[in-house]
Amino acid sequence: MGFFSFIQEIAMDLGTANTIIISDDKIVVDEPSVVALDRRTDKMIAVGERAKLMYEKTHENIRTIRPLRDGVIADFSACEQMMRGLIKMVHSGRRLFGSPSLRMVIGVPSGSTEVELRAVRDSAEHADGRDVYLIFEPMAAAIGIGIDVEAPEGNMIVDIGGGSTEIAVISLGGIVSNNSIRVAGDELTSDIQEYMSRQHNVKVSERMAERIKINVGSALTDLGDEAPEDYVVHGPNRITALPMEVPVCYQEIAHCIDKTIAKIENAVLSALEATPPELYADIVQNGIYLTGGGALLRGLAKRLTDKINIKFHVAEDPLHSVANGAGIALKNVDRFSFLMR
Ligand SMILES: Nc1ncnc2c1ncn2[C@@H]1O[C@H](COP(=O)(O)OP(=O)(O)OP(=O)(O)O)[C@@H](O)[C@H]1O
Ligand SMILES: [Mg+2]
Repeated sequence: MGFFSFIQEIAMDLGTANTIIISDDKIVVDEPSVVALDRRTDKMIAVGERAKLMYEKTHENIRTIRPLRDGVIADFSACEQMMRGLIKMVHSGRRLFGSPSLRMVIGVPSGSTEVELRAVRDSAEHADGRDVYLIFEPMAAAIGIGIDVEAPEGNMIVDIGGGSTEIAVISLGGIVSNNSIRVAGDELTSDIQEYMSRQHNVKVSERMAERIKINVGSALTDLGDEAPEDYVVHGPNRITALPMEVPVCYQEIAHCIDKTIAKIENAVLSALEATPPELYADIVQNGIYLTGGGALLRGLAKRLTDKINIKFHVAEDPLHSVANGAGIALKNVDRFSFLMR
């Protein structure tokens, strides 16, 4: 980098639940996709983890927003402010005169419409992005997992994020087919929230429901040796408002999220149905790669493997596959023809 050039290169996974930024091959930002704004002035008060701590705890002058829903931008101005705030975190600690202009690679859902792609690009440009490249998330995830995406070979990626599950078949540096449903981790969380209220009469926040999912969530009602211990939930009785203590076991959570998991299963099945036979054969041979935070759900890979009869592999670092792949793409912008300018 020359003395006078302030071009900084970053790769970003702008997710419904988490936003990750890679710079110089390292994860430099890994924060929840939340921003807190002053309701009167719309000025940003906090972003990321600090804003998430305020989530569901605000008074009337603070608004906490998750700018993305179902994998796409739902609140443009909040998204822009969030991106700016997170990008600032990359600069902090470095002595730079003014903010540098950015070369960015950003992951976008493969089902995005032109309007949605435009929205991401606009937000990035308003946040000082100068050279902005977009990459479809399953492609980025595949690269992050270490698959040779340019080979004449079919590979299937199933990315279960917060807002959407994306299923894609990749071969020869392109997405051959993709299937995206707006069912993923957030829906599992709301299943749990609703179940706790209906079954146990205890009111739990979205954050508590997510903790239950992480602690005792399961895609199978029998986990054998891998069964987690019960998780004790504290909260108000929904009718009397008196404090309650409810131990929750993984089996009941497996039952309450079963229908949503079945939706994901069906989406994988219909993606397989639509896959051309040559590629199908490769997929049976290679197995299917499971990534995104949802891949961490206990028993999920086994359940899918048993149901579909093709081996499901959980990516090594499922929460970072897209960001890692976008980071590799950043270094290959001249070579990877699938990047969108
Ligand atoms: N151990 C875990 N078990 C089950 N779910 C988990 C676990 N850890 C994280 N999750 C869930 O994974 C989801 C977040 O995953 P990820 O960061 O891949 O999503 P995202 O990329 O932000 O969303 P999207 O791709 O839909 O825009 C959340 O719903 C979170 O609750
Ligand atoms: Mg994602």
